[in-house]
Amino acid sequence: IHVQPASIENLRELAIQCAREAGKLSLLRMSQPYTVEYKTSASDLVTAVDKEVEKRVIEMILAKYPEHGVLGEESTFQGDPHQFETLWIIDPIDGTTNFVHQQINFSVSIAVYQKGQGVIGVVYDPSRDELFYAVKGEGAYLNGRKLKLDRQVKLEEALLCTSVFWNKRAEQIGIDRIVKQLAGKVRGMRLLGSAALELSYVAAGRLDGYVSMSLNAWDFAAGRLIVEEAGGIVTKINGQPLPYDEKSSIMACNQAFYEELKHYLRKSEGLNFN
Ligand code: IPD
Ligand code: CA
Ligand code: CA
Ligand code: CA
Repeated sequence: IHVQPASIENLRELAIQCAREAGKLSLLRMSQPYTVEYKTSASDLVTAVDKEVEKRVIEMILAKYPEHGVLGEESTFQGDPHQFETLWIIDPIDGTTNFVHQQINFSVSIAVYQKGQGVIGVVYDPSRDELFYAVKGEGAYLNGRKLKLDRQVKLEEALLCTSVFWNKRAEQIGIDRIVKQLAGKVRGMRLLGSAALELSYVAAGRLDGYVSMSLNAWDFAAGRLIVEEAGGIVTKINGQPLPYDEKSSIMACNQAFYEELKHYLRKSEGLNFN
């Protein structure tokens, strides 16, 4: 077999190819009967499609680069992610609940990390045929159009997106009150139900900011790079750097009001969540 060197260009092409293929497969399977299981509860679903799509993407990656590591939501990861020089972090369907109920507003998220540094991020929305991608140092794109977050947005004029602040846990730690106050300050709040898509929408300026409590690495691995390369800022809610390999809270937004938004969320400091 012909082995391709893992140049950034080749990795980007493969990531895009995997994302398109995964998206096409999930749309096809959506139109046929498939099984749905509860992972931990009735609000935590996994379908046979999530598993099939993830398997397909992993096969495509390892066929070209057998020495790379792949961390995916639905598969058991072997070993320590740090052992791989190149690590792919994938979410085959981000927004499984939307996939099952809405049949729209879900995405596939594929990222490539080298020595812990994000180098490529791809998020594909198959229902709308929208491909968001970024290469470290080379910018972010939506269907080939360069994304640039240079609008001077004020917090009062911002359309903010938040997720999972309206559950029991958020209530227990008190963050729901802070987000409620924030809702009174901004122009409007939205909740789409796919973190990867929500981050991509921040990069595209369709949303001005996105805030969430604990997300998994595969939810934000690609989207955070797309926001950063578009010129936005992404950190934990307390302003600390976002990790790449563990659960984390997240705030991603236009630079113009990052400090102000962080100040608001700082009221949550001391509350115990990561
Ligand atoms: C979920 C989505 C959702 C977020 C959840 C995630 P999944 O991912 O990204 O927007 O609020 O925390 O678990 O499970 O549908 O891949
Ligand atoms: Ca899930
Ligand atoms: Ca996810
Ligand atoms: Ca998923």
